[in-house]
Order: sequence, then structure tokens, then C-alpha cells
Amino acid sequence: MSLFLSRKEEHILDGEEGEVLQKCYRLLVRLGEAFGADRLIPIKSAHLSGISYKSIGEPGLDFLEDISQEARFKVKTTINPCGMDLRRWRKLGVGEEFAQKQLRILRALRRMGATMTLTCTPYYLSAPTRGDHLSWAESSAVCYVNSVLGARTNREGALSALASAIAGVTPNFGIHKEEGRKPELLVKIKAELRSVSDYSALGFKVGREAGDRIPFFKGLKGGKEEMKALAASLATTGAVPMFHAEGLTPDWEKQDTIGLEKIEIESSDIRKVYEEFEGEGFEAAFIGCPHLSERELRELCHSRPRVRTFVCTARNLAPSLVRPLRKSGFEVLHDTCLVVSPLCEKYEKLAVDSSKAAYYLKSKAVLKRREELIK
Ligand code: F3S
Repeated sequence: MSLFLSRKEEHILDGEEGEVLQKCYRLLVRLGEAFGADRLIPIKSAHLSGISYKSIGEPGLDFLEDISQEARFKVKTTINPCGMDLRRWRKLGVGEEFAQKQLRILRALRRMGATMTLTCTPYYLSAPTRGDHLSWAESSAVCYVNSVLGARTNREGALSALASAIAGVTPNFGIHKEEGRKPELLVKIKAELRSVSDYSALGFKVGREAGDRIPFFKGLKGGKEEMKALAASLATTGAVPMFHAEGLTPDWEKQDTIGLEKIEIESSDIRKVYEEFEGEGFEAAFIGCPHLSERELRELCHSRPRVRTFVCTARNLAPSLVRPLRKSGFEVLHDTCLVVSPLCEKYEKLAVDSSKAAYYLKSKAVLKRREELIK
């Protein structure tokens, strides 16, 4: 099937509306052709990842500054955490040179029209609705909005999401279509899941088994925060774009699971994930991968940290909770997380309650249940 282009889109491809838009369309058309898309479809929003100077360095900074001279975002465009807390970076010991480069990246994004959300859970600030087509590039958020909210976005890379933000369209294939949302693996939960961290460990295990297949969970219980933890780790060890869960996710009743490969998850499978990141003697802890919801922040207000503990969330989510959290002894970090910030380099061992964070922090990480990190 070839990709249909309207006359207007052909003109854009011919460069009649500027070089940057032409390049964005070229990239999106090429991507669409590679994956059998039938056309380009309008999107409601884009979400950009890869905006920390720690991740993209000098080439990324140059590229963004360069295109920001001409490019403007056509749709609402939110952005992932960057490399530092914009108000507290000096106090936290982030170097001046790093900070200035990070600020230049953010200025370039702002010039293009980005909403400065600086969070990997932008859906807590403004949630997409069921059926919305999006172009999002944070894998944990992609898996969450597709599965829990019923929105539609492929797992975009930093470049394709940027091109879509500028063009306002995305190629119509994969998760955007009904047939791309069908389950391909049946997962029966026999494990006892006691903590939000157990859901993260569950996703870590199932992501490995699933690869890029869409799992259908049977016997799973839990609320939105548990689904967030599950989505994040499914998308870490696997390239899982979404999941269905019996009784929990919006489209589960429409799905046919007859004849699917089936796996069972026991409590021992969950235990083994913690064993992969065993260790003691951590100097600090990091809670909030993905960024915490208001409900999670409220719960933390009633506890105290065991060691120096960084809690990451979106700056504009619940500003009134920052003071009580600090009073309880937590270090609240906005705009960033310990994975994308150079802050983590200060620690030899860091306790985390998320297997996604453990995966990225590698030998530095000790994986614990959230309840073990607080008292
Ligand atoms: Fe978010 Fe950082 Fe985890 S961007 S998903 S808190 S690695």
C-alpha cells in the first residue's frame, strides 16, 4: 500500500512552505512508508524526550538551536524532564557549564513553542482523551496513555516526535489503527503484588517475555499508579507500546485472547527482579520514576525518608505539597530525575523503587519496595 498525500502535503514536500517543514515531512513520510502507513493523520499533541544536556550533549544542543530559528510547533508540545531542577541546581551542585547548556536547550524549545512541563507524566497536567491521536516519545508515557487512557500513539523516537510537533501530523500505522492494538501474549497473574514497586517488577519481567508484543493481563488488580509503574517497566525491558488488563483498561472487552501464547507470573518471578538489583549500603534514594502523581505525593507526606531521598514530580502538579514533603524530610526535585541528571554521579549506590530507574542506573542501583525506603 502506498502512502496517500494530499496536494497540500505534496507542496510541503516540494519545499514550498520552507525547508524545516519539508525536512519534517520527508522524515515522517519515509517512516510511514517503512511501516506501511496509508496516510498522515493530524495529532492532538506531541511529547518530546531527549532534552537533557546529559543525554544529547553538544550535537543535540546545536541541532535544536539551529532548527529553532525557523521551526514552530503546530500542536501542543510538552517536554520530558531535563538535566536539572531549574530553581535549585546551584544548591544541588550542578556545574555552571552544564546548567548554561541545559538552559540553552530549553530556550530553543521554548522558542519553538514548547509547554515547559519538564515531566515524564504530562498526562497528570493535561490528560489526552480516548481515541486522541498523539505523537509521544517517552516510552513510559506512551504505554500509559495508550493502555489506561485509550489514546493512540506509537513509541516515537526523539526525532520523529519533534518532526510531528512541527508538522502537526504522524503516519497512520501501528497503534493508531484498531488492528495494531490487538493483544499478542496472554499473561496470567498468580503473583501476590503488595507494593507499587511490585507492579514495576512485574512489567520488568513481562517486558522481557513480550518484546514488542502487546500483553493481555488476566487476574491483575490495581489502580492508576500501579498501572503507571507497570507501563514504565514494560516499555523498558520490552518495546511494549501498550497493554490490556481484564476489567481495568478501556478496550479490554473488545480483545480476543483465544489461541495466544500464555505465560504465568508467580511471586518468585517478582522476587527474582529484586534479586537482580540487590545490595545494601546505599547513600541516597530516588522515588518518582516515572514522576509521582498527586496521590503518591500526599501519601509520602505521612512518612519520613530513611536516607537522603529525592522525590521527583512535575513542578506544576501539586505545589502546595512541596512544603509538607520537605518538612517530612524529602528532597523534592522538579524538572528532572536522577537518571537524566548528573546529580546521580555523586552517589556510588542509590536505592530506587522502580525497576525502570534500576535498569538505567545499572550497577549503581539497589531495587527496593517503596515501603522499605520510608518509615
Ligand atoms: Fe521519568 Fe526519569 Fe524515569 S524521565 S520515567 S523519572 S528515567
